[in-house]
Amino acid sequence: MNIQRVGVVGCGQMGGGIVQVFAQAGFPVVVLENGSDLLERGISRIAGQLARAVEKGKLPSEDRERVLARITGTLNFSDFANCDLVIEAIVERMEPKREVFATLERVVKPGAILASNTSSLAIMEIAVATNRPDRVAGMHFFNPVPVMPIVEVVRTIRTSDETIETIRAAAGALGKSVVLAKDTPGFIVNLLLIPYLLDAIRACEQGVASRDDIDTAMKLGCGLPMGPLTLADFIGLDTVLWIGDVLLAELHQEKYAAPPLLRRMVTAGLLGRKSGRGFYDYA
Ligand code: CAA
Repeated sequence: MNIQRVGVVGCGQMGGGIVQVFAQAGFPVVVLENGSDLLERGISRIAGQLARAVEKGKLPSEDRERVLARITGTLNFSDFANCDLVIEAIVERMEPKREVFATLERVVKPGAILASNTSSLAIMEIAVATNRPDRVAGMHFFNPVPVMPIVEVVRTIRTSDETIETIRAAAGALGKSVVLAKDTPGFIVNLLLIPYLLDAIRACEQGVASRDDIDTAMKLGCGLPMGPLTLADFIGLDTVLWIGDVLLAELHQEKYAAPPLLRRMVTAGLLGRKSGRGFYDYA
C-alpha cells in the first residue's frame, strides 16, 4: 500500500514533530487537537521550527510556506476520512488512546493503517479497540523528531506483513532508519534506556558522585550526546517515572523500580526541561 495522505492525532512535542517531518517529506498532513488553542500553539511551534531552519540556511525560505501549506489543522476526527495512515501521539494513557482508536475506526477508510507513537504501552491493547488489529502497529519516534534519525516499528501478534512493510516504507520516505520490535514492554530503546536512567538517578541519590560528574562521566566516557540526568530532564522526569512504572508492572524486575528521589521530584513538580527545573535549572 502506498501512503498518500497522513493524519496525526495530537500536536504536542511529539505529534508536532511527526507532522513536521511528514510535511517536509512532501506528504499532505491532517493534524487534530483537542481545542483550537492547542492546535494553534502546535502549528505555530512547527512554523517556528521551520523559520529556524530557514535562518540556519537549511531550508529555502519558499519551502517554509510550501511545507506549512501541506498541514491542515482540525478539531474533527471526520477529517481523517481520506488518510491512508493515522498516527496517534496523545497523552501516554491507555484509556484515552483506546478511545482515539475506537473513534478512528469509525471514520477512516477500511484499508487505512493506524499507528501509535506510544513509548511503552501495549500496542495489542490499543489495537483491540478497533476492528482492524491487522492494520495497527507502533510507530515510535524519538525526541526531537526532526533530528533523531530512527523510528521503532512495533509489531503485535496480529499485525499483518503488509502493514509493517507500508509503515517501514513511510518511515523510509522520511529518511529515518527503521528498527522492528515485538510488542513487548518498552520495545527496544526504553527497555534498555530506562534502567540506565534510573540507575543514574540512584547513583545521584546515593551520592556516588555529583550530578555534573555523573553526566560528564557518561557524556565524555561513553561518547554520548547528553549525560543521563540531562537526558532524563530532556525526556521529562514524569515520563521516565511513568515508563519505569509500566516496565515494572509488566516485567516485575527490580531494575525498573524508580528510586524515591525520582518520585519525590515528580511529586514536587520538578519535571525537567518542560517545567523549568529538574536535575538542572532551565529558568
Ligand atoms: N527540534 C528540531 N531540531 C532541533 C531541536 C528540536 N527540538 N533541538 C535541537 N535541534 C537541532 C539543532 O537545530 C541542531 O541542528 P544543526 O546542527 O543542523 O544546526 C542540532 O539539532 C543540534 O542541536 P544543538 O547544537 O542545539 O545542540 P546539541 O548538539 O546538544 O544537540 C540534541 C541537541 C540533538 C537534542 C542532542 O543533545 C541529542 O541527540 N541528545 C539526545 C537526545 C535523545 O537521546 N533523544 C531520545 C530521547 S528518548 C525518546 O525520545 C523516546 C522515549 O520514548 C522516551
